[in-house]
Amino acid sequence: MKKDRLIKKFDKQAKMYENNQHHHRIAGWRKDLIKNAYGKVLEVGVGAGANFPYYNRANVEITGVDFSSEMIKSAKRAADRFQVKAEFMTKDLEELSFADNSFDCIVSTLSLCTYTDPIAVLRKFNRWCREGGRVLLMEHGLSSNPLLSLAQKIIDPVYKQISGCHCNRNFPELMKKSHLQVEHMERYWSDIFVLIQAKPLKEQIN
Ligand SMILES: C[S@@+](CC[C@H](N)C(=O)[O-])C[C@H]1O[C@@H](n2cnc3c(N)ncnc32)[C@H](O)[C@@H]1O
Repeated sequence: MKKDRLIKKFDKQAKMYENNQHHHRIAGWRKDLIKNAYGKVLEVGVGAGANFPYYNRANVEITGVDFSSEMIKSAKRAADRFQVKAEFMTKDLEELSFADNSFDCIVSTLSLCTYTDPIAVLRKFNRWCREGGRVLLMEHGLSSNPLLSLAQKIIDPVYKQISGCHCNRNFPELMKKSHLQVEHMERYWSDIFVLIQAKPLKEQIN
């Protein structure tokens, strides 16, 4: 799908993301993950700011990136509501660059399913996150259940057309290729949902 169509698709979904942030289990995972964020935080695919209630607002300065201007409008409202210090960039993350070691922490929740090249994006995280910093991920991908994963692989093209994201990303495999070092990984719902805390490995060639 062309990028401009994808952006329009997410523009249309912004209100839905703004209004549907109350799934108990997912909200709990966001809370567990986001409490580990600190300092200069880059949140990619920030969407409607669903993580903003969970940041320690005394301790973070967020740069939120999203290519959907409607999502950014919703995220700005969330930042005001939860009084988190945040600036926003309406940009395609895959085209964006920051200086190496720009951030203490990089957060992605439910965004790595959308990028054309998730390994390239994870390698950017490795460069942009300073040594000793944290990369915090909450993503959905391929189940470890053979029947479910087969179904996910079959429906992926249709799923992508409808939702704008892939349902067949293999996170354990992606992390091996990412240059990041996984410190902690938890998986839920037949391993479809994954929470990852990782750190950059600076000796890797990016
Ligand atoms: C499934 S939503 C998740 C939103 C939010 N992170 C959350 O947890 O609810 C994916 C978000 O990533 C954004 N996105 C997808 N591809 C992008 C890209 N290449 N550059 C910037 N933002 C992107 C979409 O506009 C959308 O807001």
